[in-house]
Formats: sequence, C-alpha cells, structure tokens
Amino acid sequence: MHFHILVGTTSGNTEYLADALNQRLTELGHTATLHDQPTLAEVMAHREETGYWLLCVATHGAGEYAESIIDFMEALVSEKPNLQKIKAAIVAIGDSSYDTFCKAGDDGEALILELNASLIAPTLQIDMFNELDPEGTAILWLDQWISKLSE
Ligand SMILES: Cc1cc2nc3c(=O)[nH]c(=O)nc-3n(C[C@H](O)[C@H](O)[C@H](O)COP(=O)(O)O)c2cc1C
Repeated sequence: MHFHILVGTTSGNTEYLADALNQRLTELGHTATLHDQPTLAEVMAHREETGYWLLCVATHGAGEYAESIIDFMEALVSEKPNLQKIKAAIVAIGDSSYDTFCKAGDDGEALILELNASLIAPTLQIDMFNELDPEGTAILWLDQWISKLSE
C-alpha cells in the first residue's frame, strides 16, 4: 500500500514521529510519501492511485493546528473536497498540561470525517508531557492495525 504522511509540526517533534512511521511502513513492505508542508493539490493529485493518509498533527497555540499544516487544513475547509476514497489514520500530538489537549487532532479528525473520509484505526493521542517513547508508542499503534488492511 502507499501512504501519504501529512505532517503538522511547529517545533519538529512530529517530524521525528512521522519519520519513524515512514521507516516502519517501509520495513513492512509499504511505501509512503512524506509531506512536511502538505498542500491539498499535491496530496489530492494522487487520490485515484492511493487513498491512504497518515495524519500526524501537533496542537499549538490555544488548541490550534501546528504551523506546517495550517494551510492544508484551511484548504480543506474552503474547498471541501469529497474525501470518500480516503482512508485515514491519525496521530494527535499534544501535552496534557494544556486544557486543549490534542485539539488539533480532534478537529482534523472531525473535519475529514465531515468530508466523507473513513478512519482505518482509532486515533492515537501522544502526550508529550509524560510519554517517554513517542516513536515507539506510535510504531506499536501502527503495527496493531496495519496487518488488518488488505490491498
Ligand atoms: C506555544 C505552545 C502551545 C501549545 N499548545 C498546546 C495545546 O493547546 N494543546 C496541546 O495538547 N499541546 C500543546 N502544546 C504542546 C505541543 O503539542 C507539543 O510540544 C508537541 O510536541 C509539539 O510538536 P511539534 O514539535 O511537532 O510542533 C503547545 C506547545 C507550545 C510550545
């Protein structure tokens, strides 16, 4: 299978996580395109060929999307593409000392579901406040669902 890994980061932590998931997908015989500054045009250009998105998104501000994915999310809101063919899995990165813990992940999930995408895994929340091994936790999560997907 081919995945599009969409990275929402401001200070880089989510980039590490996305790299680790990218590497794990390769080890399992899949391929992936990493979008560290995703644009709707670029991601949707491949829509017919593949429908798998791995959305890795950190929360910043007061519950806002991390910088690298703001334009992409705004484009989803304004252009409202039909994501019926998209199967997505989401990793939400945040810090539980904030009231708006992982809100960007929740908002991103609600938005793509509204646009008819489907989820292929329960969304993983990574709490950077007390998570010692975010990459390892994300890989365990990936391993749990990926073997159940068929081509
Ligand atoms: C200024 C600032 C605001 C933040 N706001 C939130 C927030 O509202 N909710 C949350 O869950 N985490 C929040 N965080 C925690 C970040 O999500 C966490 O540090 C994460 O690792 C950042 O990922 P990144 O390095 O990929 O940008 C905030 C962090 C900073 C520095």
